[in-house]
Amino acid sequence: MPVPSIIAIDGPAASGKSTLGFRLAEALGYLYFDTGLMYRAVTWLALNRGIDVYDESAVTRLAEDVPIEVTAPSREDGRACDVVVDGHDITWEIRKPEVDANVSVVSAYPGVRQALTIQQRRIGMRGRVVMVGRDIGTVVLPEADLKIYLDASPEERAQRRHREILGRGGQASYQDVLEQVRDRDRIDSTRAVAPLKPAADAVILDSDSLDADQVFERVYALCKG
Ligand code: DC
Repeated sequence: MPVPSIIAIDGPAASGKSTLGFRLAEALGYLYFDTGLMYRAVTWLALNRGIDVYDESAVTRLAEDVPIEVTAPSREDGRACDVVVDGHDITWEIRKPEVDANVSVVSAYPGVRQALTIQQRRIGMRGRVVMVGRDIGTVVLPEADLKIYLDASPEERAQRRHREILGRGGQASYQDVLEQVRDRDRIDSTRAVAPLKPAADAVILDSDSLDADQVFERVYALCKG
């Protein structure tokens, strides 16, 4: 089997998709593209411009009209890329709790999804890409050569997120993080458009019992056939 050119990685929040996607892209010399950052950028824009995130038409207009620039990293501060909107470098801003708390609402709007899906498809169809998200194998790139659905229990994912927050010097209780993970799962998997679910032809991996190296090795072996 030839090495897959279009690789889709989907799964719930904190399942390890980004770590896997980034390493895989690096190993194959492919573009790594995290679609979650686009939903985060639209959410940040709405908050920054004082637009109510529940105003669906105003938020949809933002997604349609404001370009989100995603380019190679300009700094070595742990970023996988630069995200620039309205002239602001928002790479780290979009990881803040205000964005976390509102992004599921924004990403459930059909018009927002349509606008971002068009851009994601354009990037993905060029090939030699590892695209990471919730609906890549089902909606954005159903023709992907390899589809991975990376799962893990809410407790395991909350533990990882909690460690990450503390590691960055932030504060949060494990219970609060677990509640947020469950909340986001519920919204992401029950929305009407492009809900989170594995594609029928996805390889499903459960990372509860696998560490990041083991997940990578399994998927890399699938790529090398
Ligand atoms: O992967 P993440 O946590 O950065 O994603 C942020 C939000 O965007 C999350 O609530 C799910 C949503 N999202 C989506 O609906 N579709 C995608 N392809 C990627 C992310």
